[in-house]
Amino acid sequence: MSTPVSPRKILITSALPYANGPIHLGHLVEYIQTDIWSRFQKMRGHSCTYVCADDAHGTPIMLRAEAEGITPEQLIAKSSAEHQADFAGFNIAFDHYHSTHSEENREFASLIYNRLKEKGYISRKSISQCYDPEKEMFLPDRFVKGTCPKCGTEDQYGDNCEACGATYSPTELVNPKSAVSGATPIEKDSDHLFFELGQFAEMLKEWTRSGALQTQIANKIDEWLESGLRGWDISRDAPYFGFEIPGEKDKFFYVWLDAPIGYMSSFKAYCDKSGLNFDEYWQKDSKAELYHFIGKDIINFHALFWPAMLSGADFRTPDAVFAHGFLTVDGQKMSKSRGTFIMAKTYLEHLNPEYLRYYFAAKLTSRIDDIDLNLEDFAQRVNSDLVGKVVNIASRTAGFIVKKFDGKLKESYSDFAFNLYGEFIDKGDEIAKLYEKREYAHAMREIMALADKANEYIAETAPWQLAKEEGKEEELWESASLGLNMFRCIMIYLSPVIPKTAEQAWQFLKIKPQVWINSKVPLMGQHENKLTEINKFEALMTRLEMPAIEKMVEASAQSLGAKTAPDGKKDDKKPKKQQAPQEKKMTTDNNNGFDALAETISIDDFAKIDLRIAKIIHAEAVPEADKLVKLTLDIGFEQRQVFAGIKAAYNPEDLIGKLTVMVANLAPRKMRFGLSEGMVLAAGPGGSDLYILNPDDGAQPGMRVK
Ligand code: MSP
Ligand code: ZN
Repeated sequence: MSTPVSPRKILITSALPYANGPIHLGHLVEYIQTDIWSRFQKMRGHSCTYVCADDAHGTPIMLRAEAEGITPEQLIAKSSAEHQADFAGFNIAFDHYHSTHSEENREFASLIYNRLKEKGYISRKSISQCYDPEKEMFLPDRFVKGTCPKCGTEDQYGDNCEACGATYSPTELVNPKSAVSGATPIEKDSDHLFFELGQFAEMLKEWTRSGALQTQIANKIDEWLESGLRGWDISRDAPYFGFEIPGEKDKFFYVWLDAPIGYMSSFKAYCDKSGLNFDEYWQKDSKAELYHFIGKDIINFHALFWPAMLSGADFRTPDAVFAHGFLTVDGQKMSKSRGTFIMAKTYLEHLNPEYLRYYFAAKLTSRIDDIDLNLEDFAQRVNSDLVGKVVNIASRTAGFIVKKFDGKLKESYSDFAFNLYGEFIDKGDEIAKLYEKREYAHAMREIMALADKANEYIAETAPWQLAKEEGKEEELWESASLGLNMFRCIMIYLSPVIPKTAEQAWQFLKIKPQVWINSKVPLMGQHENKLTEINKFEALMTRLEMPAIEKMVEASAQSLGAKTAPDGKKDDKKPKKQQAPQEKKMTTDNNNGFDALAETISIDDFAKIDLRIAKIIHAEAVPEADKLVKLTLDIGFEQRQVFAGIKAAYNPEDLIGKLTVMVANLAPRKMRFGLSEGMVLAAGPGGSDLYILNPDDGAQPGMRVK
């Protein structure tokens, strides 16, 4: 039988996880999303290759290895083994998994750099940076900590303030300290190499308009393009763990230069073992398709720098970059102290990976909205859909086939049964289109509607009833046979999502692994050219019980609550402010109790602060900012716009109509998203643990708080 569409050559990638941290459920949104797409394309008869690798370079990895008393090579070898075990545990089927610290990658990085240099896309400029005089190294922004120059909160990173959301450079911090040695950093000059992104403005405009990007992202890129593109700093000074830049001394490629090149290198290594032709996929006029699945935090690297680098070095550009949103758990950022910062490994010790694959599928769309893992909904969804609807079809029908018909399925159907199966076949095309467009949530709804239909049919024909009556064998046989065929069809449609369960289903039905077109023809007693009978049915999946989830959360809280992993990794991806997409940060709850008491002030000092009762008349999340909610405040005599860093703590809609207290005479501050005309008062360590002040009823907007 031929495939319905002519086979395509597709290469897909997921972002390369950093080698200095374990895989957690947030990462898995991406690897599961990509894996489903890869499996789907393969089942449709296309040639689809899915590659990935560990992202092994950068300052955080160098320092982490040092802290553990091992070499960076030892650290990345350990991480790679752990990552691959986690991915295998979640049934992520990479065709190849590589490392950016590989010979292939060194060669491609040099090749691309040399080509860019030859064409005049590389420039050299001296820049001044924070330098740790004790450790004798330049410090990435995230490795400088100090007091926020805007609001005075202590212990803030060198790029932005967690408390007030201000962004600044590390040299602006008050009382800066090196996070590596504790020394006070000095400013020091050094030559850096820049990739002249500005020369690619036209090329990027065209590429953006070619349909390579989701609308929300294309709009963001347009903004960046309009505000002008600056050169991108691609070099780092020694000491650094990475590749030395050809022709330079003690200069290394910045981790983000060679990270995406890792996609090519991993594919090259795969070509060497599989016989695929590398050039066919990467040369300029390639007919093969190339897609990158990424999180929304790394859009600028994939939708600006990467296509520009490829184009400048005479390679093809990606057909599309597919970005997804971030994972929240029970509506909040994953939190170590709440136990919702769940490692892949911890999950696997407690729960079946297929549950999570299905739940993510049921939530994923082609958009970049965040997705929420609501733990109760998770259990309920898995139980009602997979166990209650899908597996139930087989468990209600298989017994009759085994006991009454020697395990054989019926050879001929009534018109009614045939037409009903026809409806299942017809839905296949629609479901396939939804998978193709990454509208998995919609696809899951269509599949569950089929499962409902199958269950209705079984309830109506009531095989358990027919089994008790005389002369109803044919009807019983049809009901149970059709039931099992509907089950098989549904399992084919679901198999990209729950591949292990599907495998068990094929074993139970004694059939070879099914591909998409197999759904078009129902199984009859005689299938695959031999008379065969099905196996006895054994539960394919058990219910997901809340206590098991609670145990997993407890175990996560215990393993992570106490020791907070240094999360210096983010430093290395902090893009230039002007081009900054969303910051990427996981909440690490601050358990250090209360803030230290501030210095004593006079009543006159206090009188300078004009606090007012404010009514929140509008509140909306700032989509491009991790923490910010934009508030419109009514203070009686006027309205103010204030950006407050309370996104993780409040649902904006719930704030509307509430009274709160604001500092009304604070100098207005221009933020990336607009002017902030004051500040609302809130208590708590930060993140989701933050409480706005909420005056008693009777207070009127505009009243001064004294
Ligand atoms: N090493 C870079 C990627 C280089 S690609 C050439 C990196 N690594 S990462 O480990 O921090 O993230 C890997 C992927 O997981 C990214 O696409 C990131 O967006 C995604 N996620 C990490 N945490 C996530 C959530 N909490 N939710 C959803 N996806 C998240 O970035
Ligand atoms: Zn601040």
